Amino acid sequence: MLTGGAGYIGAHVLRQLQAVNIDVVVVDDLSTGLASRVPDGTPLVQANVRDRTAMAAAMRDFDVAGVIHFAARKAVGESVERPLYYYRENVDGVIALLEAMEEAGVGRFVYSSSAAVYGEPISPDVAEEAPLIPTSPYGETKVVGEWATRASAVSRHDSTVPLSFVLLRYFNVAGAGGDDLGDTSVANLVPLALRAVAAGDRPKIFGTDYPTPDGTCVRDYIHVVDLAAAHVSAVNLCDDQPLGGVGTAYNVGTGSGSSVREVIDMVSEVVGFDANPEATARREGDPAALIAAVGRINRELGWTAQYGLRDMVASAWSAWPTTARE
Ligand code: UFG
Repeated sequence: MLTGGAGYIGAHVLRQLQAVNIDVVVVDDLSTGLASRVPDGTPLVQANVRDRTAMAAAMRDFDVAGVIHFAARKAVGESVERPLYYYRENVDGVIALLEAMEEAGVGRFVYSSSAAVYGEPISPDVAEEAPLIPTSPYGETKVVGEWATRASAVSRHDSTVPLSFVLLRYFNVAGAGGDDLGDTSVANLVPLALRAVAAGDRPKIFGTDYPTPDGTCVRDYIHVVDLAAAHVSAVNLCDDQPLGGVGTAYNVGTGSGSSVREVIDMVSEVVGFDANPEATARREGDPAALIAAVGRINRELGWTAQYGLRDMVASAWSAWPTTARE
């Protein structure tokens, strides 16, 4: 079962699971997800993840073996303005889901966490055991979701259906796996820069005085198709072990960083003209550099990113007309 399976990331995972013949039911309230992204013949239950009764009913009706949970709010800036809304949607959501899973006897859970759990890390390369000190309400809700998952697994340890779980900490997701699968939210650097060039505007660089090689912030950009493949690996890990035998967090990134300027240079290359970015002031709360240490996911899930920045920007640009129309 995919909660939020009609969203940007969920729809990519949905396709990859179906490609390996895993049956999927999508649960989505369609507040941001698009029903058109759920292929014909795939069941779609329209419900909010906070509705525990509806979640448990869907699990029973479709004889669900595991849940991948994407249904959450994800804009860092908005979470600062509306923290309680983020707590309600993200924290109440994951709790209702974990309760429904316990009630319906579902023993496999893959949780969409975020590099936002690390906040401003001491060193730019963060491994999973780094302290979790989020700097936004969004990041806080993701930490609470991780804790609630782990606590639920501990409490179910000696039950008839123990809980296996994988926490995937996404770094900066970009790109599209098809022209109909672009990121419609236009809240992050790649879509914002593409929207600017498409409109004849200049993309903005938030801060050029960071302690990084070119003065702009460095992030670990990960192609959404690679991210989706990490979910399939996580599902396989849970399937290969007895229930209750898996309970691990994994960074999902490439292990190398790109600066804001490098990303916008790539946008220029892909669109075929100089995007001519405008340097503006720093954005509040941005860490200078955040790069995934990927040893654990490489080793334990046998997963490595296949795509680079050019693929991400080119696929996002190719999907752009469709993305903009939606
Ligand atoms: N940036 C610009 N100009 C823009 C937009 C962004 O310079 O128009 C910069 C930001 O200041 C930042 C970098 O580009 O330095 C990336 O910014 P994003 O807003 O795209 O992404 P964030 O790194 O702030 O956060 C994203 C997700 C979070 C996730 C995090 C993990 O939005 O949910 O990546 O690294 F937690």
